[in-house]
Amino acid sequence: MESAQQTKIAHYDDTVVRQFTIMSVVWGVVGMLVGVFIAAQLTWPELNLGIPWLSYGRLRPLHTNAVIFAFGGCGLFATSYWVVQRTCQTRLFLPKLASFTFWGWQAVIVAAVITLPLGYTSSKEYAELEWPIDILIAAVWVSYAIVFFGTIGIRKVRHIYVANWFFGAFIIAVALLHIVNSAAIPAGFMKSYSAYAGVQDAMVQWWYGHNAVGFYLTTGFLGMMYYFIPKQAGRPVYSYRLSIVHFWALIFTYMWAGPHHLHYTALPDWTQSVGMVFSLILLAPSWGGMINGIMTLSGAWHKLRDDPILRFLIVSLSFYGMSTFEGPMMSIKTVNALSHYTDWTVGHVHAGALGWVGLITMGSLYYLVPRLFGKEKMHSIKAIELHFWLATIGIVLYIAAMWIAGVMQGLMWRAVNADGTLTYTFVESVKATYPFYAIRFAGGVLYLTGMCIMAWNVWVTAISGRSVKLPIPAVNAAHA
Ligand code: HEM
Ligand code: HEM
Repeated sequence: MESAQQTKIAHYDDTVVRQFTIMSVVWGVVGMLVGVFIAAQLTWPELNLGIPWLSYGRLRPLHTNAVIFAFGGCGLFATSYWVVQRTCQTRLFLPKLASFTFWGWQAVIVAAVITLPLGYTSSKEYAELEWPIDILIAAVWVSYAIVFFGTIGIRKVRHIYVANWFFGAFIIAVALLHIVNSAAIPAGFMKSYSAYAGVQDAMVQWWYGHNAVGFYLTTGFLGMMYYFIPKQAGRPVYSYRLSIVHFWALIFTYMWAGPHHLHYTALPDWTQSVGMVFSLILLAPSWGGMINGIMTLSGAWHKLRDDPILRFLIVSLSFYGMSTFEGPMMSIKTVNALSHYTDWTVGHVHAGALGWVGLITMGSLYYLVPRLFGKEKMHSIKAIELHFWLATIGIVLYIAAMWIAGVMQGLMWRAVNADGTLTYTFVESVKATYPFYAIRFAGGVLYLTGMCIMAWNVWVTAISGRSVKLPIPAVNAAHA
């Protein structure tokens, strides 16, 4: 009788979660290695070795695509597939389609790794891949939406947990952004022209670019935050009501802020001002969400002392708070007049990318890996601890160097003598930046070393474990 019941036990579909988890780590190492290499090229330009496909202009988009879409993307697929099943207490809808999203996404990444160094590019930032690859991205993304929303559709609990709202908004918005911004007229197998022209093209591109930040680099990772922080802390979300206000306020506001990337351009002035005002408003929902995440620890602060995974998750939120305070400030036109074109922007980007996106992903993956491979915990907690410190020191070196370099560049470029001539030549600002590029390189090496330690730790945990099938608890039991 008992064994007959056991055979009926339904299991979660975690194969695809395991696959995406492993590949997130692998692509993390690759993408960050390319990041360190281009950071080295900015310090020692001879490192392009005179080989076109190693040139900075080709490797830079490879870095951004690899870290955002391969490392971050695989992390988002893995966590969203894990979370949606647990919070809906059901298996994935169409597991074969979920498997297609894995292989299709890896094909997109491999295509990027080949075509970007060869110089094929649409030249739109974060949307560089050419039209045949864009079509594959659209196919994978629509399949992802079908699997995710299908799983919500067949859920066994009435309530849709807030993390799924964030993942869901991320999936819908990215589909919309990608399809609209990538509209192009093919002019050969790997060549196309944008469907838009002039300033409209710029506006569509930065509507896309900013919302790639808002929905890809923020909303999806907030989905991680709302599930993994309560889980790891063993506490409920601080305020569920705040999480709902956070959700609607954030998704309403982000869509309008794109023009802050185009201050002082041919874009109509009022559009720039709308972008600035919405960016300032964006501070409120961003900080509301951050506070909700951090306060989830109330009553459990002591756990931070000896749980390095929780530390990854919580410190990520402090960097989120930092970059979402800095962003609105940089969107003020007079501030942007100083920061634009300088390394300040690059510092801001990496406070968000290394601090927020990187740390929250790493913390969530550390939570997942032992569970996916039937282990009680990661192989080495000491190694997680070491990773945390290497990453944190690496981020601080990176962003402090870029902030100083950026403000210095902005001030040098605008300095004028009494007779109206420029005080500094451009090359003087490049020379003055040199030591800061070396510091950024050192910070990047530390961050990459931490990622390599994580890859080792994940590998040893995975091979010493086995691929487990986790049972779905009875309906209406507490969330798994
Ligand atoms: C309230 C939230 C935020 C606002 C209002 C904001 C605002 C800004 C502004 C004004 C710029 C400079 C535009 C320019 O001068 O070209 C910028 C650049 C950027 N930000 Fe943010 N930011 C926010 C949060 C974030 C976060 C959390 C991340 C990353 C996870 C991020 C990633 C980026 C990226 C990648 C760029 C560079 C875009 C490019 O030129 O390629 N931002 N942001
Ligand atoms: C070892 C870690 C990393 C290093 C050393 C590194 C280095 C770099 C360098 C040198 C650039 C070019 C800056 C320039 O053109 O002046 C860059 C750009 C960029 N990186 Fe990273 N990076 C790292 C990790 C990451 C991660 C994890 C992410 C995202 C999750 C990321 C996202 C970006 C973005 C969005 C840009 C474009 C910035 C812009 O256009 O303003 N990076 N990175």
